[in-house]
Amino acid sequence: MLPSLVVLLTLMPQAFAINPGIKASLSDKGLKYGSHVGASWLQEKTGQMLIPDVEGDIDIKIGSVHYWLTSMKVSRIDLPEPTVTFTENVGIKVGMENLDIAVHGNWKTKFSFIKDGGTFDLAVFNVGLSTVIQLGSDGQGHLSVASAQCDSSIKGIDVSFHGGGSVIFQPFVQFFKSKILNQIQEEICPGIEKYVNDLESQLEKMQVSFQVNKDLSIELPLVFPPIIQGSDLEVDLKGVFYGARNHTEPPFVAGTFQLDQQSDLMLTVGLSEFTINSAAFAYYSAGLLQALITDDMIPKASPFRLNTTSFGGLIPQLPKLFPNMLMVLHAYASQTPTVSFQPDTTTLNVFWSSKFYGIRSNSTYIPFFRLDMNATFSSKFFVSDEKLSGSTALDNLTLTVGATEIGTFQTESLQKLLELGIKSYLLPMLNKKLKDGIPLPTVHNVQWVNSMLKVNKGFVEIATDTKISLQEAKS
Ligand SMILES: *[C@@H]1O[C@H](CO)[C@@H](O)[C@H](O)[C@H]1NC(C)=O
Ligand SMILES: *[C@@H]1O[C@H](CO)[C@@H](O)[C@H](O)[C@H]1NC(C)=O
Ligand SMILES: *[C@@H]1O[C@H](CO)[C@@H](O)[C@H](O)[C@H]1NC(C)=O
Ligand SMILES: *[C@@H]1O[C@H](CO)[C@@H](O)[C@H](O)[C@H]1NC(C)=O
Ligand SMILES: *[C@@H]1O[C@H](CO)[C@@H](O)[C@H](O)[C@H]1NC(C)=O
Repeated sequence: MLPSLVVLLTLMPQAFAINPGIKASLSDKGLKYGSHVGASWLQEKTGQMLIPDVEGDIDIKIGSVHYWLTSMKVSRIDLPEPTVTFTENVGIKVGMENLDIAVHGNWKTKFSFIKDGGTFDLAVFNVGLSTVIQLGSDGQGHLSVASAQCDSSIKGIDVSFHGGGSVIFQPFVQFFKSKILNQIQEEICPGIEKYVNDLESQLEKMQVSFQVNKDLSIELPLVFPPIIQGSDLEVDLKGVFYGARNHTEPPFVAGTFQLDQQSDLMLTVGLSEFTINSAAFAYYSAGLLQALITDDMIPKASPFRLNTTSFGGLIPQLPKLFPNMLMVLHAYASQTPTVSFQPDTTTLNVFWSSKFYGIRSNSTYIPFFRLDMNATFSSKFFVSDEKLSGSTALDNLTLTVGATEIGTFQTESLQKLLELGIKSYLLPMLNKKLKDGIPLPTVHNVQWVNSMLKVNKGFVEIATDTKISLQEAKS
């Protein structure tokens, strides 16, 4: 049973594969910057680093000395810049050489009935470290890490004891030295492994689904393990928006796309039109793309009112059938709006229906007619000064009578009026916003620098450098 299942699975991988909606790629430059920030952070943190107490026995031929090293604190650390590189198909390799650490602490010894104690200074020279962290993904779409390899070395150590009758013990410092050296060396790689394992268990618990706002959530699990090449690391995420109350799969699937290599910038994120359209579908299927428009929502200054008198110029029979009657309009998306990305151009198609009713004196509605509108907008987007800017224009608009309870009428004037409304009111408002620019969404402590945006076929790509400020990270 099991073997045949395995054969089945390997024979039809495409049946289970889904294309990522979002891709992100970290370049070698980004990795180096990240490790530089990490090293500075570590350098700052080491002052607060507590070292676990050490306790043991040393055989000094005439007996055994029991010793304790306590309250140890790193008094100085010279952290060299680590060398961090991608290891193809494996993960990230971190190397460090000539790390020097000075530690200050208390010592205590007991030799037979003789007790002694004082302080000590310990210097460890030329610590070398080379470790490979393997990256992958677990079955639930989390990033997974594992320590694949670790080597450490220490070239030298110097200890001096102060206080107590330590002069007696100075001759035995050599014994302490090699003992402590071995102890430290034995702790380095297991310490790193423990750290990586802790990180792994945190990653395992990480959310892959996030609430975006009260109506929308997004799922961001990895769809396959990170792709690691010599020059970059790419993660491929599902990137599907769902309605917060209704987890309906969109009736379309993601296509494939390939990020451009932007190795001169640190980070590249690609967002497919599939991901954007899944958000549109989530809003549409949750019934959120609709509005009831009444006359009192129209600006007081407008000479055109939502009543049969005003509509008389467009539909002559309406005021004759229903003189001076207030109207109400139910506007709704008749289909999911769709966004499509073409090189340098973003196109938005909207399919909108508007049902017009008259309001009787007893507040019930009389259906008048339904107008169906298809409109195409095209936009150019770019990023300048870390703000999304651009412009949008109306490409074309068609208006047809979908249904009528008041007899036939021409839509030409209505269509002209609608186009005028869009071109002289809606678009100028939108374009002013786009001209001023919309700040790119920021992550705590991370600033975007040199960001650029490119619209390609099927996806939009944002490439950027980052600036991480450690000052705020501490608060
Ligand atoms: C969720 O959306 C689907 C498709 O629009 C609809 O058929 C279904 O009734 C909705 N379910 C709920 C609980 O709203
Ligand atoms: C309908 O609109 C006209 C202006 O076109 C206005 O003079 C009239 O008072 C309005 N009627 C109602 C019932 O609001
Ligand atoms: C409202 O008035 C119309 C016509 O005047 C009538 O047919 C309808 O039954 C009334 N509805 C209610 C709820 O009073
Ligand atoms: C609007 O779009 C829908 C769906 O693409 C299509 O069925 C309909 O014929 C279009 N109407 C007009 C007036 O273009
Ligand atoms: C609207 O645009 C579409 C696609 O650009 C085109 O096929 C169609 O003919 C246009 N309709 C009108 C009325 O211009």
